[in-house]
Amino acid sequence: MSTKILMVCLGNICRSPLAEGILRSKLPSKSYIVDSAGTGHWHVGNPPDARSIKVARERGVDISNLRGRQFSKKDFTDFDYIYVMDSQNYRDVINLTSNENEKAKVHLILNEIFPNENVDVPDPYYGLQDGFEKVFDMLDMASQTIAEKLMKK
Ligand code: 4NP
Repeated sequence: MSTKILMVCLGNICRSPLAEGILRSKLPSKSYIVDSAGTGHWHVGNPPDARSIKVARERGVDISNLRGRQFSKKDFTDFDYIYVMDSQNYRDVINLTSNENEKAKVHLILNEIFPNENVDVPDPYYGLQDGFEKVFDMLDMASQTIAEKLMKK
């Protein structure tokens, strides 16, 4: 059976589609399913932000075919690991949990590389392209650590 990993941000158009594409590129598709979702509903059905598509393409990851969807309580059943981008996403997702098992699936993604520091992946939406490049680098480092941990299991 596949291990299932969900990346979550607010809009599901900037950070989490990047995280989805990056982690997917590091894992064998036969054994792992990677998806992403937003806590908000505004961008459901939309492709990722053009700036995310651009930085990903420049680094060899194609996320242009991804489409936004909203996080739902069913995701706690469907996924084994839920990585959120910032502390607001963490609060929003934790608020939807019904038990400790669901809570234990939710992790702040940068804690993978900065354990217990609770560092946010900054929302690059209102900034410029360089913000998306910084976000890509953070997510690339965190995803590398996640992929190595998962493949050791
Ligand atoms: P994301 O960025 O959470 O990284 O996808 C955002 C995109 C859109 C909005 C907020 C954050 N928005 O408010 O529309």
